[in-house]
Amino acid sequence: MRSFTPATAVMVLSATHAVQAILPSGLQGPDQSGFINATVHTSNGGFSVCVSGLIPVQASATNYKINLDVPKNQTDTTELWLKLSTPGSTFARDAVTGTNNVSGTFNMAATLCVPADNLAPKEVHLATHGSPYNAQYWDFAPDYSYADIAAMHGHATFFYDRLGIGKSDRPDGTQIVQSPLGVEILHNLAVMLKSGAIGNNRFTKLVGVGHSFGSLFTTVAATKYPEAFDALVLTGFTSLDPATTTVTASTTAFFAAFNAAIASQNEPLSYDGVDNSFMVVDNPIGLQHAFLRTPFDPAILNLAAATKGSLSWGEPLSFTTSFTPLNFTGPVAVINGDADFALCNGNCTYPLDWTTATLDYLFPKAAKQGAYVAPRSGHGLNLQYAAAPAFEWLQQFLERSW
Ligand SMILES: *[C@@H]1O[C@H](CO)[C@@H](O)[C@H](O)[C@H]1NC(C)=O
Ligand SMILES: *[C@@H]1O[C@H](CO)[C@@H](O)[C@H](O)[C@H]1NC(C)=O
Ligand SMILES: *[C@@H]1O[C@H](CO)[C@@H](O)[C@H](O)[C@H]1NC(C)=O
Ligand SMILES: *[C@@H]1O[C@H](CO)[C@@H](O)[C@H](O)[C@H]1NC(C)=O
Ligand SMILES: *[C@@H]1O[C@H](CO)[C@@H](O)[C@H](O)[C@H]1NC(C)=O
Repeated sequence: MRSFTPATAVMVLSATHAVQAILPSGLQGPDQSGFINATVHTSNGGFSVCVSGLIPVQASATNYKINLDVPKNQTDTTELWLKLSTPGSTFARDAVTGTNNVSGTFNMAATLCVPADNLAPKEVHLATHGSPYNAQYWDFAPDYSYADIAAMHGHATFFYDRLGIGKSDRPDGTQIVQSPLGVEILHNLAVMLKSGAIGNNRFTKLVGVGHSFGSLFTTVAATKYPEAFDALVLTGFTSLDPATTTVTASTTAFFAAFNAAIASQNEPLSYDGVDNSFMVVDNPIGLQHAFLRTPFDPAILNLAAATKGSLSWGEPLSFTTSFTPLNFTGPVAVINGDADFALCNGNCTYPLDWTTATLDYLFPKAAKQGAYVAPRSGHGLNLQYAAAPAFEWLQQFLERSW
């Protein structure tokens, strides 16, 4: 790891991105190619200089035709989550009535961060966030920044608001904002990064990074387009072999803890006029229950509550969570909190090591496997004290694996 002094940054509060550091005068930002309405700033810890803006991405996909009326009110919304969680319920299956080809050009809100002392690195980490977060997850706060740690190791990080979330385009939340289209957008961003279309830098190594739902996106993209990724990093992610284990993650309790509230009612300032298919976690208690274990910094929980992203019905209804082994041959790391409530029923080392079992099942052909279990952490790993050591371990794993 190289060390250098982070740029002294000026912190300002903005309505949508809670804390953004403005580039101090004299410091050069990255090339802005590919971005519309770009702004330059430093990462939270000051180890990177970043450009943020909109990137138009052309994408086509075969989405699902979902037969679901947008819920009229919160009562109907909560009832739908109960149906989704009920054993034997055919709700999810019945809702999918066919396929639907979709295509368009979508403005994706994105950030490219490069080391402050090297504006054109060769390795980029393309990071996809989970629900209910947004791109900010990857550069959340000082000491809670994947981008800073990647920069300390000389690498770029590219992260974006998934379709329908944050400042990215927000098309129909049931028919358009679905996993198949999201996976195509992710793949197209990977192609753009390698071709030099973003930041005018032809990255030669691209690491696909995900958290939670973003790890599902990354895994599906790597199944369909293995050549797009040189390595994979899946955080908040488990998938066990159904043939050899009867243990399953109970997502029911996680959904309940989530307490999905209609976004426009819960956050009227951010979601005024947005249709009822878009939801947010109701309150900080739900964020703690679903994502954190003590100890954590209460200011970080407050920041998560103030910047929470949305999810919409098209996402859970268009996703299959069962995978078959991938033929991916690059290095793969899986990182989980030891007490992840969403994926391991609150204990990722009992009754088996879920992280290692996931690697063994899904990535038998990986050049190198790395399993890391972060201490005293829930599903929202980057919001826990264990985040920085986990990301430091990851960088060293990749450096040993190439
Ligand atoms: C870029 O910013 C200008 C000025 O604020 C605005 O009019 C325009 O709509 C923005 N472009 C996009 C694609 O949002
Ligand atoms: C919610 O909407 C349903 C119609 O979908 C209606 O039957 C019900 O009375 C509404 N509930 C409330 C509390 O408004
Ligand atoms: C949808 O796209 C698929 C794949 O490109 C194609 O095979 C299929 O015919 C298309 N369906 C319709 C209804 O256009
Ligand atoms: C991996 O390769 C095998 C053999 O070619 C193939 O049967 C299998 O479908 C592939 N798996 C995936 C997930 O693509
Ligand atoms: C998980 O279970 C093991 C075995 O009972 C126990 O030692 C460990 O403390 C548990 N972890 C958590 C996070 O509770």
